[in-house]
Amino acid sequence: MTDELLASSAAQLPEWIAGRVEFFLAHTTRCATPHVPEIMLHLGTEAVPLWDAIERRFGAAAATAPPYWGFAWPGGQAVARHVLDHPEIVMGRRVLDFASGCGISAIAAAKSGAVRVESHDIDPLAVIAITMNADANGVAVEVSAVDLLQDNTEFDYSGIDLVLAGDAFYDGDLADRATAFLKRCRGAGCTVLIGDPGRAALPRQLLVKRGEYVVPVAAENQYTAATTREAHHSVLATVWELDADKVAATFAS
Ligand SMILES: C[S@@+](CC[C@H](N)C(=O)[O-])C[C@H]1O[C@@H](n2cnc3c(N)ncnc32)[C@H](O)[C@@H]1O
Repeated sequence: MTDELLASSAAQLPEWIAGRVEFFLAHTTRCATPHVPEIMLHLGTEAVPLWDAIERRFGAAAATAPPYWGFAWPGGQAVARHVLDHPEIVMGRRVLDFASGCGISAIAAAKSGAVRVESHDIDPLAVIAITMNADANGVAVEVSAVDLLQDNTEFDYSGIDLVLAGDAFYDGDLADRATAFLKRCRGAGCTVLIGDPGRAALPRQLLVKRGEYVVPVAAENQYTAATTREAHHSVLATVWELDADKVAATFAS
C-alpha cells in the first residue's frame, strides 16, 4: 500500500490506533537499508528527536524506552540477510521473531517461505511499526505486545519451529531473561537464531556461529541503520545458533 492509502485507511481505525498510525507515518520515511535492500521499512532518522516527539504526543508513560522500532538494528539486519540468503532455514516453518522492533527479521522470514510468522515486542509503537512494515512488503505477520519473558506468561512452544532474535542482548537484565526464554525454546525443539553486533551480555558459551555480516550503519550512531541517504560506517554482526547440547548441559548442571 502507498503511504496515502495507509493514511486514509488509518482514519477508519479506532482512535487509539489511528493516532499512533498517523504519528508513525508522519515521523518515518519509507526506505530500505543497503544491507537488506529487498525489504521496505518505515524508519526514523534520529532517535532522540523521535523519542522527544513520542513523549510530547503520547506522554511520558509512552516514552519510557527509546523508539527502537524506528531503526533496523545490525543484529536484526544480519538475521534478515541470513534468512533471505538461506530460505531453506524458514521454508514451511512456523517462526517467532522475538524483540521484533521494526520487524525486519519477521518480514524476511515471511518473504522466504515461512508458513506463519509471529512477532513479539513489548513496545506498543513497535506493534504499529511491524504491522505497517509487513504491509509495505505485502506479507502477513501476526503481532503481539505480550511479554513472553514474564513468569506468568503461558507460551505454547509446540506452536513454533524457529525463533529469531535480532539485537535482543543490549541490556544485561533483558539478556538474562531472554536467554532463559530462548533456552526453553531450544529445549522444546525450536531452532533459535540470534543476530548480534558483539554485545557484552550475549551468552556466547551456548552459541555456534552460523554467519557474519558487515552491516552499514549511520555515521552518528553505530547501532542504528544506515539508509541509502547516509554516509556509512559499518558494524560486524554475527548470526548465532543456540546449541542444543550446550543448552542441555546447563539444564543438567
Ligand atoms: C535493539 S531493538 C532490536 C529490534 C529488531 N529485532 C532489530 O534488530 O531491528 C530491541 C527490541 O526489543 C524489544 N524488547 C525489549 N524487551 C522486550 C521483551 N521483554 N519482549 C519482547 N521485546 C522486547 C524492544 O522494545 C526493542 O524493540
